[in-house]
Amino acid sequence: MDQPDTVNTRSDLAARVVAWQRAGERIGLVPTMGNLHEGHLSLVRALRPQCDRLITSIFVNPLQFGPDEDLERYPRTLEADRKQLAAAGVDLVFAPGVKEIYPRGDQASTVVEVPTELTGQLCGRDRPGHFTGVATVVSKLFNLCRPDVAIFGEKDYQQLLVIRRLVEDLDFPVEVVSGPIVREDDGLAMSSRNHYLDPGERRRAPLLYRTLCELAEGLAAQPDRADALARQAESRLSEAGLEPDYVAVRDARTLGPPGAGPLRVLGAVRLGSTRLIDNVAVRPGAGT
Ligand code: PAJ
Repeated sequence: MDQPDTVNTRSDLAARVVAWQRAGERIGLVPTMGNLHEGHLSLVRALRPQCDRLITSIFVNPLQFGPDEDLERYPRTLEADRKQLAAAGVDLVFAPGVKEIYPRGDQASTVVEVPTELTGQLCGRDRPGHFTGVATVVSKLFNLCRPDVAIFGEKDYQQLLVIRRLVEDLDFPVEVVSGPIVREDDGLAMSSRNHYLDPGERRRAPLLYRTLCELAEGLAAQPDRADALARQAESRLSEAGLEPDYVAVRDARTLGPPGAGPLRVLGAVRLGSTRLIDNVAVRPGAGT
């Protein structure tokens, strides 16, 4: 198989999905915005054995980009993406245009809003409306692709929790699974936005991951100093020219303040005109 079948319209998609459902096949979905890298492909490979039919959607969703964000310059590489998906064993690529998803225009769509306790902080605070855009398009993709199971990366940790909450609150009959963050050799989390970095920025970018790892280790030894350690991490990043939007220590399951449960350290920085995010788990009891 050189290229997986690609459909661009909801009716072509429905014809496939309905036939698979009639045959009793279990459908898996990997939602993406394309420009695929190993991070995306790791999700495809993880889900492949868990379903009979695997769909990857490729849609750069205007609703989740702010007015000053990179919607126009976001890389679009459909042909290369399709080749990689064929090699990874995807059955169908759903690559709709904006009109197909938002026939009345994206600003005129009914939207899905996940409560602000989850979406009003971290990336949601810095990118107003972003998670409403994500929750809306993922709801539509679930309704159109009718997956039994869908996979999301821990790279976008807050997004993963937003989607779990959306599925719970709106009773989507979809099992949500997650995949670990895939990194470059120097630790930088893979991202389509890494292409925006110039060589100097690219050399400095792995400091985000290193700083979050050190914070996680420090926390394991000094769990009561979460705030102070996070502020120290922010200073270190900012001294190196990685302008922090936030560095935060949160309950890994709710993103609420750190408590007795597992913790997650999350960070976002601006490096030149590029916004990078990353996160790491805090190993319980390490260092104590
Ligand atoms: P996109 O940024 O293309 O990412 C698609 C999926 O790949 C997401 O679940 C993301 O968390 C995962 N991913 C990206 N980089 C990764 C990495 N280095 N390691 C592991 N997983 C990684 O996230 C979106 O698209 C959109 O918001 C979407 C959910 C498709 C809705 O539009």
